[in-house]
Amino acid sequence: MSNKIVVGAQWGDEGKGKITDMLAETADLVVRYGGGNNAGHTVIVDDEKFELHLIPSGILYEDKKSVLGGGVVIDPEAMVEEMEGLEDRGISLANLYISETAHVIMPYHRMIDALEEKRKGDSKIGTTGKGIGPCYTDKTARRGIRIADLLDEGRFRAKLEKALDYHNVLLEKVYDAKTLKVEEIIKQYQPYIEKLSPYVTNTSLLLNEAHKQNQKIFFEGAQGTLLDIDYGTYPFVTSSNPTAGGVCTGTGVGPTTIDDVIGVTKAYLTRVGAGPFPTELDNEWGEYLRDKGHEFGVTTGRPRRCGWLDIPILKHAVRVNGLTEIALTKIDVLTGIEEIKVCTAYKHGEEIVEEFPPYLESEIPYEPVYEKWPGWEEDITGVRDYDQLPENAKRYIERIEELIGIPARIISVGPGRKQAIRR
Ligand code: IMP
Repeated sequence: MSNKIVVGAQWGDEGKGKITDMLAETADLVVRYGGGNNAGHTVIVDDEKFELHLIPSGILYEDKKSVLGGGVVIDPEAMVEEMEGLEDRGISLANLYISETAHVIMPYHRMIDALEEKRKGDSKIGTTGKGIGPCYTDKTARRGIRIADLLDEGRFRAKLEKALDYHNVLLEKVYDAKTLKVEEIIKQYQPYIEKLSPYVTNTSLLLNEAHKQNQKIFFEGAQGTLLDIDYGTYPFVTSSNPTAGGVCTGTGVGPTTIDDVIGVTKAYLTRVGAGPFPTELDNEWGEYLRDKGHEFGVTTGRPRRCGWLDIPILKHAVRVNGLTEIALTKIDVLTGIEEIKVCTAYKHGEEIVEEFPPYLESEIPYEPVYEKWPGWEEDITGVRDYDQLPENAKRYIERIEELIGIPARIISVGPGRKQAIRR
């Protein structure tokens, strides 16, 4: 029996959806603990492609419970759209559970996200524009609206009135934007509330009861370690804790519930949005990785910035998440590259720095120090047995393991559920 966290070890988009989907086979519950519909998890089942933003990948298995914990922020409109989209494709929602304490993304959150990015101009974060940051801001400022509030009309109205007292001043005076009306929002949200309410419950209790009964729980991370508000490349981060620590606060289970933490990492590196990226390839190799790896955001369609694998980042991820193993994804994308580079340290002035600096800003020079490894030509997308991989691919994987000190137990060689090697 083991409860696992699947966490992104880089800047998100590492392929967590696929890895969770693969491992979920042996789980009883699959749980999202943070973030919102800024996430985009692509799962391919029998040539059918599912793009999930809020609902855990476990929903694709009929017998698993899919849980949205209290640390998630829920946009009711996006949630209902995703639920209906799944139902239209014959996926049952009978095992979906939504935390009463999850915060709700309101129309003013989305507006402020966009207006604030515009106000920032060149120094914008490059958010997904889904209202995530402003929703978490309201949560910590103690004026947020939670899922349970939606279920009681009087309470919803009272909280919304208070929230709008604040947000309308902000919209009008700071952003010179149109203000919002309580009645209009209530009217807009009514059908969403009706759709969501049967799924709302005390998910902390549900998870702890399941744990007592020895059921197996999978916590599905969204975003990635370097987008963590505390351990990422602040301020170019999201507003939650995608790192493993976020599981406890985001779902109401204690740390002793967790056995393993799997860090999902691409065999190279990508990021969307602004912020520092020492190994970024602003050249034809960056284009090559983007084209071959289809590196375009699932949520926003934006082209992802691409670069070589960065070991100091992975060592940071191992440390702050307590990773027990990695799942290495998209190694097939490297096929055909004659010489593959791996950043093992940075040159910072005269100094060689082997650890990821906790304070990294774009204008502070951290020059990657690279090791170069010969690539391979063979198509590896059909390989299921580690020994069948080309020698150079094995050498690349084993060097990564040596540098970060933990094993790669899953190696993904293509997007399909079965395109993976297990060791
Ligand atoms: P926000 O989460 O929309 O506020 O965006 C903050 C930063 O996190 C931006 O750089 C986004 O591109 C990035 N981000 C948020 N969610 C994801 C994700 O699921 N994958 C990759 N990047 C993300």
